Amino acid sequence: MFAVYAAEPNPDKPLDALRVGERPDPEVPDGWVAVSVRAASLNMHDLWTLRGVGIKPEQFPMILGCDGAGVLAGGSDAGSEVVLHSVVGDASVHGDETLDPRRTLLTEKHQGTFADMVVVPARNVLPKPAGLSFAEAACMGTAWLTAYRMLFTQSNLRPGQTMLVQGASGGVSTALVALGRAAGMRVWVTGRSEEKRELATRLGAHQTFESGERLPERVDAVFETVGKATWKHSMRSAKPGGTIVVSGSTSGPDPSADLQRLFFMQLRVVGSTMGTREELAGLLRFCDIAGIRPQIGAELAMTDAADGFKQMLAGETAGKIVFTR
Ligand SMILES: NC(=O)c1ccc[n+]([C@@H]2O[C@H](COP(=O)([O-])OP(=O)(O)OC[C@H]3O[C@@H](n4cnc5c(N)ncnc54)[C@H](OP(=O)(O)O)[C@@H]3O)[C@@H](O)[C@H]2O)c1
Repeated sequence: MFAVYAAEPNPDKPLDALRVGERPDPEVPDGWVAVSVRAASLNMHDLWTLRGVGIKPEQFPMILGCDGAGVLAGGSDAGSEVVLHSVVGDASVHGDETLDPRRTLLTEKHQGTFADMVVVPARNVLPKPAGLSFAEAACMGTAWLTAYRMLFTQSNLRPGQTMLVQGASGGVSTALVALGRAAGMRVWVTGRSEEKRELATRLGAHQTFESGERLPERVDAVFETVGKATWKHSMRSAKPGGTIVVSGSTSGPDPSADLQRLFFMQLRVVGSTMGTREELAGLLRFCDIAGIRPQIGAELAMTDAADGFKQMLAGETAGKIVFTR
């Protein structure tokens, strides 16, 4: 079948490891389902995979793509439109599957969604809301799910409080802005260029700032995916007793912790990763009820996936990059 995959790990030149070609058709284990992929979105995780981060060397070649939407390819529900939940855990573990130490995301152990077909455990598909297109639904399983958990499970924010989103144009950032605005937060955003800050305003930000700019007042919660480049600003921007929710470190993983500020200001630093099946169901319902649609900056044929990877590597994002079949 057609697939976009990582041939081997390449830490320094990730795009050199990218292949657009053919991979064997998947087998469907008992209790799993095959999904004919209609759309899948690009995440920074796919660039990490090309670099060999978070994946064992023996797992290559690996089809990329952590999320997607498509149509069930067999069984009694064949033809049903579905959204994928990409956290694959032990079926016997109940409760929060993101806390299962043996859980993996698609593309870490199991093949991903940038292909004609993907196979996942039956519990990892959810019905696609009719109001979301395949391209929109494809954004939900990773970036949007991560934003939803950061905001509604981890931050303790209430409507009317102020949130700061570090980064304006990324997949997670644009989701945080749209979800935060719809939920009644005062949404502040930093962005690296005027164009990116304008995008945040269009998506619902109440105020935007240059990266590192001093804010008019400290905020109730900061949302971090950037890491080293913005960490100091995040620590200074949270009010006493405030929360910093962290789900990524694009610019580097080793920010100085600023421990004195951490205890003196009684800050809470909370890590967050992906989300549960239940949270994905809540996200899909929220988007449906509130009429929220993901910001898609580029929609490309999957055969042109390399162009999307180049855009993300260069930081030229304007929301999600989606590949369609
Ligand atoms: N833990 C999880 O489950 C999870 C899930 C999804 C993503 N993540 C992580 O979250 C991060 C973002 O992922 P994504 O898919 O949203 O990536 P993306 O679409 O490429 O977005 C990158 C974002 O980072 C900002 N940025 C990058 N370098 C920066 C710098 N030097 N200074 C300031 N801002 C910078 C950009 O801000 P501008 O708009 O200002 O350019 C943009 O908002 C990645 O590290 C990813 O691995 C984690």
